[in-house]
Formats: sequence, C-alpha cells, structure tokens
Amino acid sequence: MEARVYESFRDIVYQTSGISLGPDKQELVAARIGKRLRVLGLQRPEEYLALVRKDPEEIVGLLDVISTNFTSFFRGQDHFDLFAEKFEEYLAAGQTRFRFWSAACSTGVEPYSMLMTLDSIRSLSSLDVKILATDISTRALGQAQEAAYQAKVVEPVRNEWKMKYFEKQPGEREPVWVVRPELRRHVVFRRLNLSQPPFPMTGPLDCVFCRNVMIYFDQPVRQRLVSEIERLLRPKGILFVGHSETLTGIDCGFRAVQAATYAKP
Ligand SMILES: C[S@@+](CC[C@H](N)C(=O)[O-])C[C@H]1O[C@@H](n2cnc3c(N)ncnc32)[C@H](O)[C@@H]1O
Repeated sequence: MEARVYESFRDIVYQTSGISLGPDKQELVAARIGKRLRVLGLQRPEEYLALVRKDPEEIVGLLDVISTNFTSFFRGQDHFDLFAEKFEEYLAAGQTRFRFWSAACSTGVEPYSMLMTLDSIRSLSSLDVKILATDISTRALGQAQEAAYQAKVVEPVRNEWKMKYFEKQPGEREPVWVVRPELRRHVVFRRLNLSQPPFPMTGPLDCVFCRNVMIYFDQPVRQRLVSEIERLLRPKGILFVGHSETLTGIDCGFRAVQAATYAKP
C-alpha cells in the first residue's frame, strides 16, 4: 500500500474512532484492509479508499477489520476479585439495583465474566442487575450477542461455572458453549464509539470496565473518555483499565486503588 493511501486510511480511522495508527502499523493495516478487499471483490486499496469516502456506512466495515478484538474470559483475575469484593460490600449495604458498564466489550466475554462473578455471590434473579456492554465493532458485537464460544475460548472458565452458566450445543464444526439465557438477560449490547463523548447513558454507574482500549487512543481522546467515565460513575465507583494502561498524565479526580484500578472520590 502506498504511503499516501495509508495516511488517508489513518486519518479516516482517527477521525471516526480515535484509534491512532502509528507509522509502524502500515503492514498490519494493509493486511487487514486486504481482507475487506477480498470480501468486497476489490483489487486495490485505492478503490477501497474511494468507496469508504463515498459511502460513510462502509466506515463500519473498515473499523471492523481495523480493530483488534483480542480478549479472554476472566482476563486480569485480580479485577474480578475486587469486583466481587465491591459487589459484596454493596449488597451488605442493602443495595439491590446495580448498573455496570463494559466499555469495549469485544466479543462479550468480559461482561459474561462479570455476570458469572456476580451471580456466584448472589443469584441475579433476585436483584435488578444490568450490564451495558458496548463496542465500536459490529462484528465483535454480533459474536457477543450470539454468546456461543469454542471450547478453547471457555477454557479459563472454571468447570463448575461452565456447567452452571453455559449449555453445550452442536456447532458448525465443533460443539460450542452457549451462555444460558438467565445470565444473558442481564446484559445489553450496543454499538458505541468511545472517542466521541458525551454518551447517551444516564449514570450513575457502580463500576466501569474500560480495559485494553485506551492503548489505541492518544492523550486528548483518553482525556475526553476518562472525564466522561468520571461523570457517569457514582461517588466511590470503580474504574478498571487494562493492565498496561494508566491514568497518569490525565486530568481527573480518580485515585489508584490497586493495579490498573481507580476509584472516584
Ligand atoms: C483488545 S479489545 C479489549 C476487550 C476487553 N475489554 C478486554 O480487555 O479483554 C479492544 C476493543 O476495543 C474496541 N474499540 C476500539 N476503538 C473503539 C472505540 N473508539 N469505541 C469503542 N470501542 C472501541 C475494539 O473493537 C475491541 O473490541
């Protein structure tokens, strides 16, 4: 891909998602765009660039191939341990209504890990619990909504929870593990672009998981996002970020409570 074509894609991706692609990402982007070209039956990246410019709906397809959706069940177990602790605290204080947000939920394993953690402490059927799970990638959100995972994906889920919260069903090539409806009804999936606050939700939220997405943003985009999360969280609410992320250098009131975990004052 020619440098000027790469730069045009880079500008479009930044304007529409806040994702900052460095000069070192040219090969990766070319390979990912190549996939989209094949799907659309196009030959050259320039043709695809012209299409993206002409048809704003194709931005969705572009961001679907550009975004990195790597995730796993119970990624960063220490976060789920603290999340469980907080939930127990809230329950002990008599709280029965809970609102959580998995921002950049990818294929859904993060919000489902959150729900298993909560339900194992107190049955969710007796509580008003909702997780809003959002992502920019419609492809990832489609998988999240299907909630059907291959055996290797559910490996990190302890056996007892696999039996309790999943149903093994025949899949296209191999059996899949499908999250049971009793758990799924506590999560709502929506497409949301984290780089363009304000967001349409009304807080206050009890905890926010915004993990492994800020690494793709530059400082101004991170700043806007963190300020918006701070606005939506309740006082003493918790923000979990990715283990390679930090709020250092961001103007906010959050205080660090443990690795990659912050509390609103
Ligand atoms: C590496 S995954 C992280 C998933 C999960 N939070 C975790 O930690 O396992 C990053 C996700 O961020 C999403 N993403 C990237 N830019 C975004 C944006 N501007 N708004 C919302 N989601 C975005 C990607 O589509 C992808 O699903």
